[in-house]
Amino acid sequence: MKTLIPVGASVAPFERKMAELGPRSVSEEWYDRAVRVLRGGDGGEHGLLLYQLILHRSGAGHPLVVLDVGTARGFSAMMMARAMLDANMAGHVYTVDVIDHDELRGWHVEKQEPDEPLARIEIARSEIWNRWFGDEAARITAVTAQSSDVLDDWKHGPVDLAFLDGSHTYASVKRELSVLDCLMAGGSEIVLDDYHLGVSVARVHSRPLNAIAWVLGRALPPTRKLSPVPGESNEYVIVKQRFYGIRKAVSEFLEERDGQWSLEIISMPSRGEYQGSDYSLAALTKE
Ligand SMILES: C[S@@+](CC[C@H](N)C(=O)[O-])C[C@H]1O[C@@H](n2cnc3c(N)ncnc32)[C@H](O)[C@@H]1O
Repeated sequence: MKTLIPVGASVAPFERKMAELGPRSVSEEWYDRAVRVLRGGDGGEHGLLLYQLILHRSGAGHPLVVLDVGTARGFSAMMMARAMLDANMAGHVYTVDVIDHDELRGWHVEKQEPDEPLARIEIARSEIWNRWFGDEAARITAVTAQSSDVLDDWKHGPVDLAFLDGSHTYASVKRELSVLDCLMAGGSEIVLDDYHLGVSVARVHSRPLNAIAWVLGRALPPTRKLSPVPGESNEYVIVKQRFYGIRKAVSEFLEERDGQWSLEIISMPSRGEYQGSDYSLAALTKE
């Protein structure tokens, strides 16, 4: 089984990318608390990358405008706000979720640690921020809306960095990318979580089967777990892939913008069945 890398993309393992961005400088204590309170102890490497990407922009010469789509408890937004504070940078994070900031809810999900601080309680995101992350929260505006509504009505100037981790459907991501293209200048970056490369589980070589695979590949909705995609020399590869819509939206975006954006894939540490060996982030940079 092997992962499928799109043509023209560069690939960097997470540790190498982090080393390129400079020494890891977030306080261990603060990070551990953020992962426990805001992620229930479940992963957080994407936050480390976002933190370093913000630091990397410390010489921007203007206040940073950051968009975070998919707030949940606020982990990604907090990591970026913390970086701005640590580097003494001007800037603001706008984070969007369909979940209201003051809605009481239980945030715990099964894959998280059973003794995480929010297990078995109902609490609003606003209260979590007040209790644990007051300084960072002052650098964040939480907006309750669909991402598309916020983007269509964007009033905060050019976006320097966007992190897309909201709806993982093809249609939503395609729309988000398309609007962001108009809101971003050269050198700006869009990072997408859950960019799974896909793992090939079979190859179709016979002519009739190829024909069927070709038809199915065009007709099936992009969210199918197993789908045929073109391989090399007229063969079709049956691919197992989570969030296929994200990869499809990114590929189309790059094709349609023909050379205006570049793609770097950051392969992330895998976390069992939920985020397997092909779990990656996609970083799109505007030329
Ligand atoms: C995977 S979570 C985000 C995790 C968060 N970024 C982090 O680092 O912990 C996805 C969130 O996106 C929100 N969401 C889903 N579809 C959305 C949409 N169309 N617009 C805004 N938010 C959306 C969900 O309510 C959910 O809270």
